[in-house]
Amino acid sequence: MKEKIEALREKFQSQLAEVKDANGLEELRLSFMSKKGAVSELMKELAKIPNEQKKDAGQMINSFKQEVAAKFDERKKQLDALAEKILLESTESYDESMPTANPSGSYHPITLIQRELEDIFKSMGFDVEDYNEIVDDYHCFEALNIPKFHPARDMQDTYYLSTPNQLLKSHTSAAQNAIMIKYGNKLKKEGRPIRAVFPGRCFRNEAIDACHENTFFQMEGVMIDKNISISNLIYFMKTMLSEVFERDVTVRLRPGFFPFVEPGFELDIKCLICGGDGCPSCKNSGWLELCPCGMIHPNVLIHGGINTEEDPFEYTGFAFGLGLTRLAMMKYGVKDIRVFNDGDINALSQFISK
Ligand code: FA5
Repeated sequence: MKEKIEALREKFQSQLAEVKDANGLEELRLSFMSKKGAVSELMKELAKIPNEQKKDAGQMINSFKQEVAAKFDERKKQLDALAEKILLESTESYDESMPTANPSGSYHPITLIQRELEDIFKSMGFDVEDYNEIVDDYHCFEALNIPKFHPARDMQDTYYLSTPNQLLKSHTSAAQNAIMIKYGNKLKKEGRPIRAVFPGRCFRNEAIDACHENTFFQMEGVMIDKNISISNLIYFMKTMLSEVFERDVTVRLRPGFFPFVEPGFELDIKCLICGGDGCPSCKNSGWLELCPCGMIHPNVLIHGGINTEEDPFEYTGFAFGLGLTRLAMMKYGVKDIRVFNDGDINALSQFISK
């Protein structure tokens, strides 16, 4: 047994030294640690050796197993750090003072990222919808379970028009009610789930800094059907982020309060500008609020005509409100959100579509 373990150790060490990325590491881990892996094979052999040798042999296998597991962890940390370094170096290549390489103009980075996201969601069966910038109080707040004078309105002060009851939408959630009404019949008569995203410009009367603008973009998403759960929500969020960034990014999910979801979550991304150390782009916290989300509140589904008061849980659904402008900051390594609204052609023409 000792010789076998020694031979395996050598094989493991030389293969580990060859591993270049997370996929390679996972393959190696499975070949050693899975049910059919080399370590399990050793365990099977234990049954065949004489009883008096079993204790020592078992201990040797266990300590080898622990050694292999520790080496995997160590190598994983090294590979993660390397991947993060490569990403940070690549995002820092953006330089807003660089002369424009494209005198004929180019798409705005928000347009590029919006289209990329639309394609991702379309490939998962979502419809893409457009919605107004001027809305009324009912759609922006009341239909979303935020009655007049509710304190949650303070978080989203916006610009009110002189026409009574008209305002600039403070979030894309303002379109939720219209989407439910538009697709509700198909859901109930044909059993077609509601899956829609709606990107749009939002406005807020708030102090501006490196990560807050008074005019910015969000992309709302909703999915409604029978038996939709938080697992569906998490699946779509993970898929969206890994497709946008084309690699694993560090995210955290924590409880968040929004009157139109229950339960509600804040989904934050580890700042890709500073790697989590803290900088003005993330308000020195190392994290950036990116995509709040949650299960749609029963009152919102009733307002949208999806459920009735008698059966408020017949259909369930999730909703999310992705901060598109902040996502563009992270994806393109833009340190200050104000660059997007500056109209500086040098700065804005450096982004290219996939
Ligand atoms: C909302 O707007 C909710 N409507 C989101 C939502 C939808 C929650 C569906 C649950 C279900 P919040 O105010 O946190 O939530 O804004 C959402 C995202 O928009 C933020 O995480 C952030 O990425 C972006 N955002 C908000 N305010 C600004 C701002 N002033 N400048 C730039 N981005 C902003």
